[in-house]
Amino acid sequence: MSYLKQQPTQDGYFGDFGGAFLPPELVPHFEQINRAYMTLGRSADFLNELKYIRKHYQGRPTPVYYAHNLSKEVGAHIYLKREDLNHSGAHKLNHCMAEALLAKHMGKTKLIAETGAGQHGVALATAAAYFGMECEIHMGEIDIAKEAPNVTRMKLLGAQVVPVGFGGRSLKEAVDSAFQSYLGQTDKAIFAIGSVVGPHPFPLMVRNFQSIVAVLKLANNIWKWLANYRTKWRLVSAEVQMLWACLPVLSTMPRLDSTALSLLVKARNSANIPPP
Ligand SMILES: Cc1ncc(COP(=O)(O)O)c(C=O)c1O
Repeated sequence: MSYLKQQPTQDGYFGDFGGAFLPPELVPHFEQINRAYMTLGRSADFLNELKYIRKHYQGRPTPVYYAHNLSKEVGAHIYLKREDLNHSGAHKLNHCMAEALLAKHMGKTKLIAETGAGQHGVALATAAAYFGMECEIHMGEIDIAKEAPNVTRMKLLGAQVVPVGFGGRSLKEAVDSAFQSYLGQTDKAIFAIGSVVGPHPFPLMVRNFQSIVAVLKLANNIWKWLANYRTKWRLVSAEVQMLWACLPVLSTMPRLDSTALSLLVKARNSANIPPP
């Protein structure tokens, strides 16, 4: 069985790490989120809506750019996957739109999270605005001062920015503050954590929602390789053979918003990498 199918275990363990260490009152709510992700989050309705959002709202697939100057400087071929071209300017929207969509399918009306640099806060505020939900973002006072433009963007998007003034007044305390606030409003809100961290099922969900970046990059590479191969050897049948060979690999990836085959087709259509 592949790594992706084995990890995490049902309890959210990646080897010795992971799991969920929660105050007892939060346990049923995290179980509810886990159940929702495992059922609603894998339903055709959910995946189709996410697919639509990714394409028409986020602007996916994002291009892969050959960084000429940097490549010359370091003497290697450097490609950049332009996740900054997602709407709102960061890869954070990949998991935020999906977490918000899950919240909608669960009947929740509010999103709560922490932010440090503010990119996760902006992405979640964007997702909340898209779905017409309330949004509460906890942010350390030091980060608020450092990242004023992102604070303005969150507020413009309708989010409430909650300053966190205890401890180091930064991201770690913002996580605690957001959790504390979530505890009092679990009936209507969902906690939408900003990274592959936190109690199960968040590392699993965020990993899977972000895997769209790697899956399309892998498919893009395959198409690029295929294009060279075809040109060099004029073997038209290689395309079919490669597609066939790739299917088992791609089918081990978490099922997201497409089948393995349509991912390859999408990648082919967006293959825009100039040869080095
Ligand atoms: C717990 C947590 N939240 C949020 C973020 C996201 O980034 P930011 O809020 O700084 O844009 C990170 C990034 O590492 C994180 O670890």
